[in-house]
Amino acid sequence: MAWPILVLHGPNLNWLGQREPEIYGSLTLAELNEQLQTEAVALGAVLTCEQANGEGALIDAIQRAATRGDRGLVFNPGAYTHTSIALRDAIAGTGLPTVEVHISNVYARESFRHHSYIAPVAIGQISGLGIDSYRLGLQGLVAYLQRYDRNQTA
Ligand code: DQA
Repeated sequence: MAWPILVLHGPNLNWLGQREPEIYGSLTLAELNEQLQTEAVALGAVLTCEQANGEGALIDAIQRAATRGDRGLVFNPGAYTHTSIALRDAIAGTGLPTVEVHISNVYARESFRHHSYIAPVAIGQISGLGIDSYRLGLQGLVAYLQRYDRNQTA
């Protein structure tokens, strides 16, 4: 059985490739999503990839994913990581197993990036490995779901 998973990109990530490439690299969002789709096939996951700049639209996307039965979330909340109780509540409220990912190492940057409202409700966080943060986040989430399903049927 394939795991339906939402990959959600937050604010300004639609500008990936042209936005501060020295920090975020030169791959576009479309190219990143394409790579993740390839990775998903190998992992037995089915991805929906979405991006939104607004907090409300991101909350709507998380609630939609839970409603349609997605099993987990790979989420780069962008700057909302450091500000949004509402996104934290959306993850806690839906109960979607979530891996928080960041392209840059947020702990090596400005101090306002050192706090995450999302991390306490995530199953894990990957930060600083560039685009690989997403790939590894997806792998970790699928491994978590495999473990979870095994425990349910054991
Ligand atoms: C980011 C890190 C955030 O601090 C920043 O606001 C972003 C991108 C990352 O992927 O490294 O927009 O989430």
